Amino acid sequence: MPQELDQLESTALLELSAVETLPHLEEWRVRYLGKKSALTSALRGLASLPADQRKAVGARANSVKIRLQTDYEAKLHALSLSGIDESIGGASIDVTLPGRPVPLGRLHPITQVIQEICSVFARMGFQVIDGPEVERDYYNFEALNIPQDHPARDMFATLWLDSKEDRAARLLRTHTSPMQIRIMEEHKPPLRFVVPGRTYRYEATDATHDWMFHQVEGLAVDTDITLRDLKETLFEFCRSVFGRDTGVRFRCDYFPFVEPGGEVAIECFQCKGGGCRLCGSTGWLEILGTGMVHPDVLARCGIDPSVYSGFAFGMGVERITILRYGVDDIRHFYSGDFRFLRQF
Ligand code: PHE
Repeated sequence: MPQELDQLESTALLELSAVETLPHLEEWRVRYLGKKSALTSALRGLASLPADQRKAVGARANSVKIRLQTDYEAKLHALSLSGIDESIGGASIDVTLPGRPVPLGRLHPITQVIQEICSVFARMGFQVIDGPEVERDYYNFEALNIPQDHPARDMFATLWLDSKEDRAARLLRTHTSPMQIRIMEEHKPPLRFVVPGRTYRYEATDATHDWMFHQVEGLAVDTDITLRDLKETLFEFCRSVFGRDTGVRFRCDYFPFVEPGGEVAIECFQCKGGGCRLCGSTGWLEILGTGMVHPDVLARCGIDPSVYSGFAFGMGVERITILRYGVDDIRHFYSGDFRFLRQF
């Protein structure tokens, strides 16, 4: 048995020295180190040998195995390296070829529009901050003049995180307006802030509604802010985003936390006021809700309404993006479909 092993070792090593290619090396490995090799069966057969031979034969078989393995690995390394040398040496490299294009990532369209909106207001002196998406009833409703059982709660289908009877109940904010309260609690006027962020509504989705969307809230409070400041600021915003000669309209609307409340619309850029499907034949596209901060809201935040006044506004980012780019379904934004996203 030991002689056979010696013989096996010298044949194997001799053959190995003649191997010159990786495929041949693999054949060699299968023949001498594979599961069906003579060496493997010798090692397996150890158990059936008489006890006095087992130890010596086992030791020799192992040493052969280790030797073959080591030489195999050295050969593998050498052949792999020379393979690389060959492929580089053989082929000439054309250094003037243009590089392979690296696909670039980009910002999500909603992020782009949020950044644009915020930068328009930043130019007008507004600070940009964000706030919590999980809110308390107090900030989302109570402090905004929407107590429990107020019919205005129906404007906001709410995703509750706790029982809604509980006055400290948590919810997913239905608008960014709770940040009006948080800002006025924390900062003394003069104040000028914009707050972009996610908002949530408990609603079935369709082409124009999603259960999650983004708003940008704005708030300005100072000693003599009037409706005129509101209109000038928001009209300037609309013209910056939609074009200098866009027609802009202010109309009264109702929100419990502002008085008077209003909505700002721009002239429909598709039909230029003539009436089309985009604007529902009205000629106008509603862009945001706004109003003068209600005196009770100011007072609740410790700001004296006989000294200070302010305006607030809130706009839907998806809606603005949809109108601007003619997107036919709000659900595209979060579908993760690159064919859609790459267009922006
Ligand atoms: N928060 C209101 C909404 O989501 C919009 C709004 C904000 C209205 C600020 C007035 C003032 O519809």
